[in-house]
Amino acid sequence: MKKLTRLTAIAICFTCFSSLGSADSGVQDLSPELRSLLSKEMLSLQEGMQSILPAYVSGDLDEVAKIARKIKNSYILKQQITDTQKRELKSKLPASFLQSDQKFHEYAGMLEHVSKEKHMELVGFYYAKLSESCVSCHSQHASHRFKAFNKEQPQDNGHH
Ligand code: HEC
Repeated sequence: MKKLTRLTAIAICFTCFSSLGSADSGVQDLSPELRSLLSKEMLSLQEGMQSILPAYVSGDLDEVAKIARKIKNSYILKQQITDTQKRELKSKLPASFLQSDQKFHEYAGMLEHVSKEKHMELVGFYYAKLSESCVSCHSQHASHRFKAFNKEQPQDNGHH
């Protein structure tokens, strides 16, 4: 119990701390090996997202569920990496990254679930949510890769 409380306190501090830290901290410090695994993983996520669309629009929700399940189960932590590499991921990636990742896996799980249950409308909803979770993490942690996220938020679009 005592230990749990202390861990929670540490987790909370870490969260505050990392949200104060600069965007993109962490990912670029990863070793080349982990970085290339991450990149491979991202490319396969993109492939998965792209193959969901034709399955969805043709009403093949079994296929959507299958792909969503693959997406849900993907994570470099689950691949064949050494314990040292696991520690490296945990120590170098900020808490906000891990939270984004968790959110992302949650939505993939929801997409799998509603697809299995054949809730056509909710499939569209969670596909959008899942896409938003890609954007959310990229805007916080991958603006070195996706430069468009470095631009200022539009404040004035000229329509007065
Ligand atoms: C938890 C954070 C996170 C989530 C969620 C996430 N990404 Fe990424 N993604 C990154 C980071 C960080 C990079 C840049 C990696 C680098 O610079 O090494 C990246 C890079 C990419 C790339 C470029 C890979 C390359 O090497 O060319 C693609 C494509 C991509 N992501 C697709 C997706 C898609 C599609 C989703 C959602 C289904 C997604 N990502 C969700 C963090 C995330």
